[in-house]
Amino acid sequence: MTETNTTPDPVLVEFDNGIAFVTLNRPEKRNAMNPKLNIRMLEVLDELEADDRCGVLVLRGAGQSWSAGMDLKEYFRENDGKGRAAVLKSRRQSGGWWNRLMYFEKPTIAMVNGWCFGGAFTPLVSCDLAIAADEATFGLSEINWGILPGGNVTRAVAEVMNHRDSLYYIMTGETFGGQKAREMGLVNESVPLADLETRVRALCASLLEKNPVVLKAAKDTFKRVRNMPWEQADDYIYAKLEQMLFLDKSNGRAEGLKQFLDDKTYRPGLGAYKR
Ligand code: ACO
Repeated sequence: MTETNTTPDPVLVEFDNGIAFVTLNRPEKRNAMNPKLNIRMLEVLDELEADDRCGVLVLRGAGQSWSAGMDLKEYFRENDGKGRAAVLKSRRQSGGWWNRLMYFEKPTIAMVNGWCFGGAFTPLVSCDLAIAADEATFGLSEINWGILPGGNVTRAVAEVMNHRDSLYYIMTGETFGGQKAREMGLVNESVPLADLETRVRALCASLLEKNPVVLKAAKDTFKRVRNMPWEQADDYIYAKLEQMLFLDKSNGRAEGLKQFLDDKTYRPGLGAYKR
């Protein structure tokens, strides 16, 4: 990941034992997503997809914020001033990386270390898993400054939160903390900020033990079949299963069966086979 100019890279990437920590890096603007950050994120995802150092992607924010949503100055006001074409282009850039994240090749975890507002809900929900700090503050603040939650935020909220909670926070713009986010299903867990990285690393370690081909197939299948009719889903799942077996050159299924049935070295109910 090289820098090509003098301004700080809006996205930092660090590798550590199979984990790629991707950091939204505009702390002075609370990691608000401006066009430069959005363009860079798409490049970073492209690069990481084929990088063996990335077994799990963790998305976090620099400083005390995860992301304060869209950059109200650069994404909204400045693009408005440039006209419709600029607005549409900028939407494609942000939507582009969020969509890539939803079906990213590797498992993804949102590590919500602080502020999380508006547009940040879409990458949050696009990540496969999310662990928050109790101290994090979430809010659908769009209503507070005069828009509805666009950029697929409304859809993202409806994906993981129930009807009443979604409308309550869409309509009031009230903030809530990590524990409330967990209670509503917006994140998997919430832990004290001091424990956040440790918990995320433990989760990464668990995922890194698993067969990556199967992980990718399993998460994509879940995300795609949710909106399919029963029979179509059944057919899709079998097609995906067979694609997965074809793609898995390690022949993990046979190995998993062998280690349990013949070698008796593990119990699938209690843990993963040794890869
Ligand atoms: N867009 C542009 N600039 C922002 C944003 C944003 N979303 N969030 C923060 N900033 C900037 C501020 O303008 C300020 O810039 P300056 O230093 O040049 O004046 C700097 O970041 C620090 O912001 P403060 O408000 O001083 O930071 P504080 O820590 O007190 O508050 C908070 C943080 C609560 C996140 C506050 O900045 C805020 O409310 N931001 C807007 C959150 C929001 O509603 N985002 C839009 C959601 S809707 C959508 O995404 C479509």
